[in-house]
Amino acid sequence: MYLSQDIPKITTHVLQEMKLKGEKIAMLTAYDYSMAQILDEAGIDVILVGDSASNVMAGHKTTLPITLNEMIYHGSSVMRAVKRSLVVVDMPFGTYQGNSKEALNSAIRIMKEAGVNAVKLEGGEEIVESVNRILSAGIPILGHLGLTPQSINKFGTYVVRATEEKEAEKLRRDAKILEQAGCFGIVLEKIPAELAAEVTQSISIPTIGIGAGSKVDGQVLVLHDMLGINTKFSPRFLRRYNNLHDEIINSVYNYIGDVKSASFPSEKEQY
Ligand code: KIV
Repeated sequence: MYLSQDIPKITTHVLQEMKLKGEKIAMLTAYDYSMAQILDEAGIDVILVGDSASNVMAGHKTTLPITLNEMIYHGSSVMRAVKRSLVVVDMPFGTYQGNSKEALNSAIRIMKEAGVNAVKLEGGEEIVESVNRILSAGIPILGHLGLTPQSINKFGTYVVRATEEKEAEKLRRDAKILEQAGCFGIVLEKIPAELAAEVTQSISIPTIGIGAGSKVDGQVLVLHDMLGINTKFSPRFLRRYNNLHDEIINSVYNYIGDVKSASFPSEKEQY
């Protein structure tokens, strides 16, 4: 039995309580009504409408092409299904970097049009002006440090980040900056477990890891990866809970066979 299970609606305050009480936060991505309904029914604490939608829903190679309108579409689809989970939408690349007024306008559009609970932004010190402006409008922010996929053209690869002391030190500093600004949590992606544990201990807000080891306050995975819908992506940190790729192939294969052999529909399946 988990402390959060009796709570009718997960809020940022509940996540803070969970950190204080040592209950891990379970977060998954979702991008559409049907999947969000299942995740909410299963009791997931947080649903992230990630810009990974750019990859798994739209088939782009990176998260960069997805637009604000597309993220609002995914966010509002998820929101129509959800009763209990906290729903966070990723602000897409180009809608918050460099211009804090534009960042605020983008965040307001997401909150108004998708009706979600919070937004997520990638980066630390370099986006703090946007973070402050969005927070000052009463919009909760989840930070994202470490491997930040919107910066893939700067990094050049998706390898583990902050293995060198200089980058680790910047990450520690950025985590403090986001905490002090008033973010309600921080995603730590693909960094050494020891560093993630240290950052988790050093800040009062929850950390949610993906490829950041077990000593963080919660975990997040991309739904299509953990369900085995997408089988081409298999980093070390990914645990697969199903092989829906093969299950769907088998179902479709059986359906094709039934249609071709005219065994579907049967008498019971007709009017
Ligand atoms: O877009 C996304 O799905 C994410 C998670 C990997 C944290 O940012």
